[in-house]
Amino acid sequence: MFPRAIELNSQTIKVKKYYENTDTSYQSWGNNNAYAMHYGYYDSKVQNHIDSLVEINQQISRTAKLKKGSKILDAGCGVGASSFWLARQFSCKVTGISIADHQVRKAKSTAKREGLQKLTEFQVQDFNQLSFPDNSFDVVWAQESYCHSENMTLTIKEANRVLKVGGLLIVADCFLVNNFIPSWQKMYLNFWMNGWAIPKLETAGSFYKTLTKNNFRVERKRDITSNIIPSSQEIYSRAIENQKEKRNHIQVQHTNSCIYQKKCLDLNLWKYLIFISKKLP
Ligand SMILES: C[S@@+](CC[C@H](N)C(=O)[O-])C[C@H]1O[C@@H](n2cnc3c(N)ncnc32)[C@H](O)[C@@H]1O
Repeated sequence: MFPRAIELNSQTIKVKKYYENTDTSYQSWGNNNAYAMHYGYYDSKVQNHIDSLVEINQQISRTAKLKKGSKILDAGCGVGASSFWLARQFSCKVTGISIADHQVRKAKSTAKREGLQKLTEFQVQDFNQLSFPDNSFDVVWAQESYCHSENMTLTIKEANRVLKVGGLLIVADCFLVNNFIPSWQKMYLNFWMNGWAIPKLETAGSFYKTLTKNNFRVERKRDITSNIIPSSQEIYSRAIENQKEKRNHIQVQHTNSCIYQKKCLDLNLWKYLIFISKKLP
């Protein structure tokens, strides 16, 4: 099947431009060819940055009780780090999609280099208007990608459509602690969100409602905020070091966001949650 042409809107254009301009920064974060573009998970056993980026995948898939051989859609796959990990770990077929063509190109060439072409495929697609038929996947894996959605109802409906009945929607992302935020703290939040092309953050409560209104049952919800704190600190420290580099305005705003995500976490404005939801008949 050929992917259909994608209609970009102002939000997807913003996201695409953001990732095109910040590729070097994410590359140095992930530290290899298929660089991870997400927070890392720390605990008593995992204490270094690179291991933490892999451990979070382990934690998410364990929380979901992921099974071998599942057909997975990695919705917002970056350059495929988690897609490759899932394919290897669970011997499963993974389709990764991203709105950013350069990421898809990179993921495809990594798949070729690593001999993972049979298990993985990558396409430029919008997770709000997927080209896949109904009931195509056992799992939709959305790791730090749905935060870019400006219409969560549409995003969740589309995930529901492409999932088989009984299939799992896995969302690991940042959520607002609550909506009652003093204006100066709102300013901090806006600095962070604008620079990372995040239009708005859901609260756990609003997200839960959207899921349950759209034919999902929430199976598990896990708060791993305390485990990602060192990763948030790492993002902050790197940004402080790089602040003086000459860059364009998108890159400057990105660096500021790297600083403000930590300030907002210190103010308890957001938390990191894993939601596991099942598609109902
Ligand atoms: C922070 S990165 C996370 C990438 C990957 N999940 C990971 O953990 O390494 C967010 C990803 O979501 C993708 N994305 C954002 N909005 C999207 C949309 N509407 N459709 C498809 N992908 C989207 C971005 O292009 C990017 O690849």
